[in-house]
Amino acid sequence: MASWDPGQYAKFAGPRLRPAADLVARLPDRAYRAGIDLGCGGGQVTALLRSRFPGLALAGIDNSPDMLAVAGKALPDVDFRLGDIGDPGLAAGHDLIVSNAAFHWLADHRKVLSALMAGLPPGGVLAVQMPRNHGAPSHRLLAEVAARPRWASAFSGVAGIRPVDEPADYARLLTAAGASEVDAWATDYVHALPPAPESHPVLEWVKGTALRPYLDVLDEAAAAAFLAAYRAALTEAYPAEADGRVLFPFRRVFFVACR
Ligand SMILES: C[S@@+](CC[C@H](N)C(=O)[O-])C[C@H]1O[C@@H](n2cnc3c(N)ncnc32)[C@H](O)[C@@H]1O
Repeated sequence: MASWDPGQYAKFAGPRLRPAADLVARLPDRAYRAGIDLGCGGGQVTALLRSRFPGLALAGIDNSPDMLAVAGKALPDVDFRLGDIGDPGLAAGHDLIVSNAAFHWLADHRKVLSALMAGLPPGGVLAVQMPRNHGAPSHRLLAEVAARPRWASAFSGVAGIRPVDEPADYARLLTAAGASEVDAWATDYVHALPPAPESHPVLEWVKGTALRPYLDVLDEAAAAAFLAAYRAALTEAYPAEADGRVLFPFRRVFFVACR
């Protein structure tokens, strides 16, 4: 399990929240009985659900106590609980299940998504966003640097980035699991990241997410050397624009599936 640093993750709060806002905007207007945010992190997406459906009973599940502490402070009326979203039973009794940027961390998210869909009551909705950037230089270079002989043994137990499928694959998967309708799509965002002195903007972004499992197994000196090697690769792949910002294209996959 990767550790999570709410401060590092929040550095890019605006661009990270944009896909969640796009997902929540596509939720059908229904009189839901109870909603749950799986992998709720610091509760930013739960807050979007609260604004969109005032009065709806909401719960949030995450396996990071640090993230949950932030969420609990921001939204004291939400039932935030420590748990593993790999257990679909945790969503039982909820007819609105939402998850932003969390399911790709699971070893087999497809199996869990199918179980969640099959467990929804008629009229229930499962809405999910996952990053699909595993082929982008940011993620490819991370895997390449990590595979160098100097690091390979330290990272032998690190699962790394797990690929996410195309939207049509999820449409098929969820239809087979009982969805009556699936709205599935992908969006390419182009994040214009401000300069990061002494670092690289994409490195700062990835430090809040995909790098965490790698940094967790290194001591301070080894982490500094690994970050320097990864940063050099990123600087070549993502050069600064004339205004100093770095353009970071990022693909995300979405679906809103109704039972
Ligand atoms: C990229 S953050 C997204 C947080 C939040 N959904 C948002 O969009 O702001 C991923 C979150 O998923 C959580 N997470 C990852 N794997 C998990 C698991 N197996 N069970 C519960 N939470 C998990 C992490 O702790 C982290 O808070």
